Amino acid sequence: MILGIESSCDETAAAVVERGRHIRSSIVASQIKIHAPYGGVVPELASREHLRNIVPVVRAAMAKAGAGFSDLDAVAVTEGPGLAGALLVGVAYAKSLAFAQQKPLIAVNHLEGHIHAVFLTQSETLDPDTRTLALVVSGGHTHLYLAEGGRYRNVGATLDDAAGEAFDKVAKLLGLGYPGGPWIDALATHGDPSAVPFSLTQVKRKAHRPGSAVGRFSFSFSGIKTAVLRYVQVHDLYPSIQRRREALAAAPDASRDAALQFCDAQTLGLIASFQRAVVEDLKRKAFQAAETLGAKSILVSGGVAANRELRQRFTAEAEKRGVSLAFPSVALATDNAAMIAAAAWPKFQAGDFAPLALTADASLSLGAK
Ligand code: KG4
Ligand code: ZN
Repeated sequence: MILGIESSCDETAAAVVERGRHIRSSIVASQIKIHAPYGGVVPELASREHLRNIVPVVRAAMAKAGAGFSDLDAVAVTEGPGLAGALLVGVAYAKSLAFAQQKPLIAVNHLEGHIHAVFLTQSETLDPDTRTLALVVSGGHTHLYLAEGGRYRNVGATLDDAAGEAFDKVAKLLGLGYPGGPWIDALATHGDPSAVPFSLTQVKRKAHRPGSAVGRFSFSFSGIKTAVLRYVQVHDLYPSIQRRREALAAAPDASRDAALQFCDAQTLGLIASFQRAVVEDLKRKAFQAAETLGAKSILVSGGVAANRELRQRFTAEAEKRGVSLAFPSVALATDNAAMIAAAAWPKFQAGDFAPLALTADASLSLGAK
């Protein structure tokens, strides 16, 4: 039984997971309300909130699991990547607990955690030993990994913004709430996805080492963000954006569907077209990478994997191509600690423990390039 702790960004989370598969408890304290007025995560505020939340969140996870610290076999924590000050809170807490309780400490890469969220959800259909293409797509990352037998190769990444970051920035520009992904997801269903013909920047293949797949599947999302801005300027959408921003600020608890009354058809078309372009780009590159690299299964994880259009279009493509496809549950797609405890399980079995000198690594990467 492993206690997982996650504090890499704006969620303080703790979970107790048995044998990497059975979730006994998973508690997530979100800081969305704190960062929403700024339209993005403010690192100093995030660290302070983690400090405030870490003890009650761990206590709640232990209580819900019906376990005491002495019942644990190990304490696992996100080592990186993420915000340095935020990671530090989880790492310092986990080290202290492991030391005081004389339990092994396990350091987990947040990105590997996202991949394990899929194993947690679909343990029957997925085999970690099968060659799998993993797309990790969140607010901080857009990565393609070739995963096989618990080893990873990074075969693609974004050259600029992460896909989730593009959702968040476009939503902010259009006067919608934070984080933007769920707002765009909800509103896009009401718009015409062919209204604005966006095309994503085609990234030129970078010079890469012979035999290496890195650079073949690069992403770039800063271009479409600028294209949305230009559309807003050319069509002078600012007055309607300002009205929407004020209306939503006056009703901060308005549901995303209620925001529909503040969006005209032109705005809804813009939102739907943006989402379609991003989803299509992710889909095309993920399936291309899987085919090129001989992976018969694809998994998609990270916050953007909660997106409904992404799930629909990936599912249709997988059926067409006869490729197996897996997602985490929507709750496990965004940051949580159950995925950290699950990723720690194979390390526990292998006796791969971290020293008490462990430090947070804000720019930790996953897998060889
Ligand atoms: O995995 P996550 O919770 O945190 C990071 O590790 O970054 O991902 C958060 C990101 C945010 O950018 C958020 O807007 C996006 O995931 N997101 C979505 C949806 N739900 C969350 N993007 C598109 N559609 C959604 N339904
Ligand atoms: Zn994440």
